[in-house]
Amino acid sequence: MKKRLYRILLLPGDGIGPEIMAEAIKIIDTVSQFGIKIEIDTDLIGGSAIEKYGVPITETTIKKAKRCDAVLLGAVGGPEWDSLSHNLKPEQGLLTLRKSLKLFANLRPVKTLKPLLDISPLKSEIVNGVDFIIVRELTSGIYFGKPRGIKSTPRGEKGYNTEVYYQHEIERIAHIAFSLAKKRRKRVTSVDKANVLESSILWRKTVDNVHKEYLDVELNHLYVDNCAMQIIKNPRQFDIILTNNIFGDILSDESAMITGSIGMLPSASIGKNTGLFEPVHGSAPDIAGQNLANPCGIILSLALLFKYSLNETHIAKAIENAVSNVLEKGYRTKDLAEKGSKILSTSAMGDYINNELKKILTNRS
Ligand code: IPM
Ligand code: MG
Repeated sequence: MKKRLYRILLLPGDGIGPEIMAEAIKIIDTVSQFGIKIEIDTDLIGGSAIEKYGVPITETTIKKAKRCDAVLLGAVGGPEWDSLSHNLKPEQGLLTLRKSLKLFANLRPVKTLKPLLDISPLKSEIVNGVDFIIVRELTSGIYFGKPRGIKSTPRGEKGYNTEVYYQHEIERIAHIAFSLAKKRRKRVTSVDKANVLESSILWRKTVDNVHKEYLDVELNHLYVDNCAMQIIKNPRQFDIILTNNIFGDILSDESAMITGSIGMLPSASIGKNTGLFEPVHGSAPDIAGQNLANPCGIILSLALLFKYSLNETHIAKAIENAVSNVLEKGYRTKDLAEKGSKILSTSAMGDYINNELKKILTNRS
């Protein structure tokens, strides 16, 4: 018997973070009415934590996160904190959290939804039926590699970072990618820059070795520049894209355009214990506070939370269906607008999705 009592930490963060989080909370409340008890706690991260505590995340918040089953995050960052020194910037709060929770695997599903085919800047015959997951290594590579810094030298200032991967770090993320592929279309594309970088040569060799344990999965390798092109040319060829931290960061924003708006993309970061779930988009300071943001990214991230951290797959599916049903009826936030669609505010979109979810769950119980 499942315990069905879960603890979730909410970290709304900055910019549009609090607005979209409010919509996710509506969904959590609804799920709680259907036999799943969820205790929620809320805390600060990013600029909002800097304002209150002078740091982008506190030790207390990290401890709290570790005691929870999962963390749901809005977004961090904004122009008001741009001038702070590197290790005090809002983004450091997120990077510290990912590292402290040992969330080495970041899953970013890219799936086109029928009602949104026409809003993609790519032709609908190219994007129709796209369904792949970017498996991004999240706690190593150039984001964390040492040495790093900015130094004065006789030739002027020098800025430097280091791309480092240990074999075991590549192995564990490769296992995640192959295991996922086994449950899907059994195809992994590993992306690197092995024609130039030693870290990528090790990446490719290690992925080939791990592949020997998954011979029912097909593996191919692409250089990252070619992959960037293939994502636009023929995105249906991909099932799982396995890649390092920085390539995954870049390719996931690119892939967002297949779905039409970065506002749609969810992500799941997993390690051994607490998982972290956050939309791929940022804090969008230009539209913050205006009730304009698309809450679908965070609501779909919440669906991933139910799937990967709580193992409540039917709830995850119900949330995903609620989102696509509402889009099917023509309801849109501004970023998804096309001729004839009904433009909703953040909170109205959240209400429609929430009502749809209530209907779906009521019909099931
Ligand atoms: C992302 C973001 C982050 C990253 C930033 C906010 C640190 O761009 O999650 O893709 O680079 O990982
Ligand atoms: Mg990014």
